[in-house]
Amino acid sequence: MSFPEPVILGNSEPINKIRELVKKLADIDLNVLICGESGVGKELVARALHYYSRRRNQPFVKVNCAALPAELIESELFGYEKGAFTGADRQKLGKFELAGDGSILLDEIGEIPPSIQAKLLQVLQDRKFPRVGGYKDIAITSRIITATNRDLQADIISGSFREDLYYRINIIKIAVPSLREHKEDLELLINHFLKEQQETYKLPDIKIPSHIIDLFYQYHWPGNIRQLENYIKRLSILDNVDEFEREFLVQVNKQQKIDRASLQIEAEIPSPDTHTDEPDVKKFSSLKEIRDKAVYKLETEIINKVLDENNWNRKKTAKILKISYRTLLYKIKELGIKPY
Ligand SMILES: Nc1ncnc2c1ncn2[C@@H]1O[C@H](COP(=O)(O)OP(=O)(O)OP(=O)(O)O)[C@@H](O)[C@H]1O
Ligand SMILES: [Mg+2]
Repeated sequence: MSFPEPVILGNSEPINKIRELVKKLADIDLNVLICGESGVGKELVARALHYYSRRRNQPFVKVNCAALPAELIESELFGYEKGAFTGADRQKLGKFELAGDGSILLDEIGEIPPSIQAKLLQVLQDRKFPRVGGYKDIAITSRIITATNRDLQADIISGSFREDLYYRINIIKIAVPSLREHKEDLELLINHFLKEQQETYKLPDIKIPSHIIDLFYQYHWPGNIRQLENYIKRLSILDNVDEFEREFLVQVNKQQKIDRASLQIEAEIPSPDTHTDEPDVKKFSSLKEIRDKAVYKLETEIINKVLDENNWNRKKTAKILKISYRTLLYKIKELGIKPY
């Protein structure tokens, strides 16, 4: 069985650490929980854990717990016997059984309904289970990997995730960093995805203009590497940088509006603290708010100053500020900078 090598790209410190951790943990059969925002590479890390282990030539089975309705998860995971329920006209093997001596990835584990959480906990403790409607126990010999983009600890507090199950799956945690935390890998990733597109679609050489790269560095990638990958695909297929840029700026704008709205919300949340000895937190803005406001103010002042000193020659201003012309135009619009 061939399993392509999952290559975790990046030369940044956080990614180097992830790569080291994966190699170190690959052959240690403890349950691993991979967490991180959506699109950061959790599945890639799970595949790498499998690939670098002695289980490489055994199956890698992925179960997307979010995609399955509650009634189906149980039979999907554990299989069923013929006649177990109406419509069970033949025996079906579950994913645990199919994984055999390989690895099983329970993706989006946070979406598993409470009734199945109890059963899963039991099965993980016993490392054996009967198929639905069956009696004979089937042993679990696969390596169990779980992944989530949810804050499971918050789910434990809200009561939607069992604490005992959390401790069972989270013997070792791998926290995959967001793309914002390793932007120094942006160019390497961009080139990789570009090359992949070119090879797949036999496209001519594509070069992304530097002002777009500048914008990429400024953007904060809520959808992480998957979003970057999709943008590069779009860019290479569109073959129209201007159109791409327009679309991208719409995204950036949207994100900034969301950020500002959330800042406003943070500022408006009343303090629940009524104890008189405590400082009056309502009087103070959050540090994030203060920082964002300061950045806006400083950027506006500096751009304004350089523009004024150069008679609003925007090409020259962009050069002095070491940003692209387009980025400058964008910032002028965004920050509402006008000639006095
Ligand atoms: N470090 C990396 N190097 C190269 N490609 C990466 C890297 N991280 C992620 N990718 C690519 O980005 C895409 C998304 O990765 P993956 O599916 O593993 O993310 P995920 O965290 O599981 O996302 P989701 O939460 O949406 O399920 C994949 O095409 C993957 O190959
Ligand atoms: Mg995933």
